[in-house]
Amino acid sequence: MKKVAIIYWSGTGNTEEMANLINKGIEEKECEVRICPVSQGKIEDIDWADIVILGSPSMGSETIEEDEMEPFVESIKNNLGDKVVGLFGSYDWGDGEWMRNWVERMESYGAKVFDEGCIVNLAPEGDQGSKCIDYGRRIVE
Ligand SMILES: Cc1cc2nc3c(=O)[nH]c(=O)nc-3n(C[C@H](O)[C@H](O)[C@H](O)COP(=O)(O)O)c2cc1C
Repeated sequence: MKKVAIIYWSGTGNTEEMANLINKGIEEKECEVRICPVSQGKIEDIDWADIVILGSPSMGSETIEEDEMEPFVESIKNNLGDKVVGLFGSYDWGDGEWMRNWVERMESYGAKVFDEGCIVNLAPEGDQGSKCIDYGRRIVE
């Protein structure tokens, strides 16, 4: 059974909704999932998991959230080995630059990022919600 850790930061709930939808897709397969906000995330969750899925909205100026997610990502950079890494998050007015930079950064740590991440404009409604479920479904295939 694949072990999956989903760790995210969300200020107004959009990225949290994405986390739950991605988890819904994953739950269609037989997987063991640990899902939590980054404030409760631990390096042991990363070491335990076969697949690590991290979520942050676009914040600051096209960056991941800086107070909690940024230090967490920095702290796990040597624990990724060749794990499959999924990235997701919500944005508003940008063009997804934060996600392109985040993918590049995780690849520089040796991670294999699945499908260039999964991004949604504001809340994951309709087709955007289905896209999140599908990302979860496919990452564990
Ligand atoms: C302080 C702050 C900075 C933001 N910076 C960006 C940005 O650079 N680019 C962008 O597209 N959206 C930006 N946003 C919009 C958020 O990414 C968007 O509202 C997102 O849906 C928030 O996700 P959440 O509900 O998970 O917190 C910013 C929002 C805030 C509050």
